[in-house]
Amino acid sequence: MKHLIDSSDLSLAEESAVIELALDIISHRDAYREKCRGRKLATLFYEPSTRTRLSFTAAMMELGGNVLGFADAASSSVSKGETVTDTVRVVSCFADIIAMRHFKEGAPLAASHYATVPVINAGDGSHAHPTQTLTDLLTIRREKGRIDNLTIGFCGDLRYGRTVHSLLRALSRHSGIEVVLISPEELRLPEYILHNVCERHNMPVSEVRTMEEVMPRLDVLYMTRVQKERFTDEAQFERLRDTYILTPEKLSSAKSDMVVLHPLPRVNEITQSVDSDPRAAYFRQVENGKFVRMALICKLLEEADATMKPAAAQQHENGCRCEAMHCSNPVCITATEDVAPLFHRDENGTLRCAYCEASADAEAK
Ligand code: NCD
Repeated sequence: MKHLIDSSDLSLAEESAVIELALDIISHRDAYREKCRGRKLATLFYEPSTRTRLSFTAAMMELGGNVLGFADAASSSVSKGETVTDTVRVVSCFADIIAMRHFKEGAPLAASHYATVPVINAGDGSHAHPTQTLTDLLTIRREKGRIDNLTIGFCGDLRYGRTVHSLLRALSRHSGIEVVLISPEELRLPEYILHNVCERHNMPVSEVRTMEEVMPRLDVLYMTRVQKERFTDEAQFERLRDTYILTPEKLSSAKSDMVVLHPLPRVNEITQSVDSDPRAAYFRQVENGKFVRMALICKLLEEADATMKPAAAQQHENGCRCEAMHCSNPVCITATEDVAPLFHRDENGTLRCAYCEASADAEAK
């Protein structure tokens, strides 16, 4: 693992090593206070974030390191027209590791081809969010004592919710996981995740339209916000925004040890009256995010110190180059930046963009 762009960049062994390290950090906090003394983390956030950016910042500070960067693109050279790939080449001269959030899908992958330091994807469009996944896995592990043999319900915006996409990718490698997808038709999980992640790994998946009908079966309920900023049709957002609201009444049919997760921010999909229920783990989940990011930073820096080549640019390991083709996704980084077009074939023979996983032809993602 040189960079963390999506959950599958970590082998199962590496994922487990990060979680074990996070658990060790939780129980021996003082032992890690000088771990990154003299090292610098750059947080390049092209899209709004409170918890993820502050979580990375707090993680690096707790390791004794320093943090630089920007919290919105308007205050960086992007406003002058600088490309992501140029920005990371510049930032590689100032920082030892980069955490990037971008509204364009595939931007962190493109950045990783040019950076000479590790790049962490802190969320790209509606595509992926692997550090939230590590947060979710650590929380499941701490709350349930295991990350296998669980029935997990995903509720809300499964179409645009990147945290769901990355978590499903990670869970598909664990054994005994059964997934229940709870969403309106318009916000169903993208087909490419259903086929290339769930079906490919034989992870049982069922789909329902209400949370009530599955509540008693669930070990974990993963609630999500309807992602207003990803909608092109405002009327559709208005129609769907209140589809699911978790209340104490709905929770009354759940197992007494079920765990409610939410990557936050919450809008109205969980009422505040649920917060005092011991099953509501979403604020504990936030703190786990800091510990797991501390572990990830340690691991990536360790690996970079041992292996990183001086010029990582132009190492297109994630797919085959094809100048003649273009990605069909208008919010892919390749639509606006001059990065090498890369594609790979999935299990069904569909040619997919290596940056955002949209199909190469005109068919919808
Ligand atoms: C999530 C995200 O940014 O995708 N938030 C987070 O990182 N904790 C979820 C969301 O914004 O709904």
